Amino acid sequence: MSDPATCWRVHPTGPLHGEVRIPGSKNAITKHMVAAILADSPSVIDNAPDVGDVALTAEMLHAIGAEVMSEGSRVIVDPGPIASGSVPEAFTGRNRIPILMLGPLLHRHGEAFVPMVGGDDIGGRPIDFHVNALRAFGAEVEVGTGGVSAKAARLHGARVSLPYPSVGATESALLTAVLAEGRTVIENAAIEPEVVEMALFLQRMGARLELQPNRRWVIEGVDRLHGATRRLAGDRLEGFSYLAAGLATGGAVTIRGVDQANLVTGLSALRRMGATLEIDEEGITARAPSGLQAIAVHTDTHPGFMTDWQQPLAVLCTQAAGLSVIHETVFDGRFGYVSCLSEMGAAIELYDQCLGGPACRFHESNYRHSAVISGPSALHGAAIDVPDVRGGFAYLLAAASADSESILTGVHHIERGYHRPLRQFAVLGLDITPDSLPTRE
Ligand code: EPU
Repeated sequence: MSDPATCWRVHPTGPLHGEVRIPGSKNAITKHMVAAILADSPSVIDNAPDVGDVALTAEMLHAIGAEVMSEGSRVIVDPGPIASGSVPEAFTGRNRIPILMLGPLLHRHGEAFVPMVGGDDIGGRPIDFHVNALRAFGAEVEVGTGGVSAKAARLHGARVSLPYPSVGATESALLTAVLAEGRTVIENAAIEPEVVEMALFLQRMGARLELQPNRRWVIEGVDRLHGATRRLAGDRLEGFSYLAAGLATGGAVTIRGVDQANLVTGLSALRRMGATLEIDEEGITARAPSGLQAIAVHTDTHPGFMTDWQQPLAVLCTQAAGLSVIHETVFDGRFGYVSCLSEMGAAIELYDQCLGGPACRFHESNYRHSAVISGPSALHGAAIDVPDVRGGFAYLLAAASADSESILTGVHHIERGYHRPLRQFAVLGLDITPDSLPTRE
C-alpha cells in the first residue's frame, strides 16, 4: 500500500482495453475475518483481495490476540483464546470494522471495548442500529466519546427490527445471534450479496441460520462454532468500476471472476446507456461503439442499483449525451466527490430534492442527494486530493478520460478497497506513475 506521501501521475492514454481478474471484495473479506474469531479453530478465506482494509483488520485482530496470516490469495485466521476484549483506540476512525467486533468479543470475552468507527465521509453514518441490536441481545452498552464499551455474562436471542436495512447492523446482529442462547429474528434486514456471503461462511462454521422472504434472517444460536474455509465471490463493485473504465475512455474492458447475478442491475444500467454487453461463463465485456446516452438512476438497497456504483456511473454520465440524473437514497452525503469532477470540466448540479426516482428518506431534508449531469463534457487533467475510496476511483476514471495529466494525492484511500489498482490499470494500458508529493517551496 502506498505511503500517504505518494501521489499518482495519471497520463491519459486513450481507450482502455483488456481483461482484469477481480478477486473478493473488501466488504466481504473483512467481515469474514471478524466472523472467524467466533470459532474455536482456524479459518481459511480464499480469493482474498490485496487491499489496505485487510491489513488493517488483521492488525485489529492481532491486537485482541488472534493470529492472521496471508499466503498468496489466502487469509488464515487463527482466533486462539482471544486474550483481550479491547480494540485499541489507535484504530479510531480507521474503518467500520470495530463496531462489528463487539458481539463476537462479548461472546469470547464477556467484556469489550471498540473505538469509534470511521470509514468514508459520505454522510452521518451513526451506529444506533448496532447499539440497539446489542442491547436487545442483553448486553449493557455504553457509548462514550472515545468508543463503545459493552458487557454481558451471556447473550440471548432477540427480535431485532431494523429501521432501515443497514448492511453493517445486519452483520452485527448476525455475528451476535449465531452464538446467542435461543432464537433471533432480524427483520427489515440487509440481503446484500456480501451479507449473504458472510452468512454462508457462518453456516459453514456450524451456525444455524436461514434467510426468509421479506428481508428476515432467523438464527438458532449454537454453543460453539468451528473454523471453516470459503472462497470469496469476485467483487461486484470493483467489477462494475472496471467496466465503467473501459466505457468512459471509449474502450472495452473484460472482467473475469464476477458473478453476473451480482451485477444484474448495474449491467442493465450500462445497457440503458447504450453499452453492448458480452456475457459468458468466462467473463463480462462492455463496449459502446456508438457512444453513451444519458440515464436516470436511483441508488437503493439490494437488489437495487448499489450506492457504490454511483461514482463510476457519474463519470460515465459526464461522457454520455444528454441530461443524466442520479438520485442517492442510501447515504445522505455521497456526492462530496463531484466538486472535483466539476473542476475537471464536468457539468454537474446537486439538488436537495428527490430527482430521478421515488421520494426517499432524505426528501424535505437539506441533503444534496440528487445530481444532474449534462454531457458529454471534455474533462481536463487536475491536481486532486482523493477523499474516499469510491470517489477516488471515480477520479481515476475521470483522469483516464481527460485530455491532460492529473496528479492524485491521498491514493491510499483507493488502495484501501481496490485490489492492486496500478497493476490492473497497467494491464488495461493506462499510464499511472507513482511519485513523491511535490514539496512546497
Ligand atoms: N444507518 C443508521 N444507523 C446505523 C447504521 C446505518 O442510520 O446504526 C444508516 C446509514 O447512515 C445509511 C444507511 O443506514 O444511511 C445504510 O448504511 P449501512 O449500515 O447499510 O452501511 P455500512 O454498513 O456502513 C456498507 C459498506 C458500504 C456500502 C454500504 C451500503 C462496509 C464496510 N461498507 O456500509 O461500502 O456502501 O454498506 O451497501 O461494508 C465502501 O465500500 O466504500 C462503502 C462505503
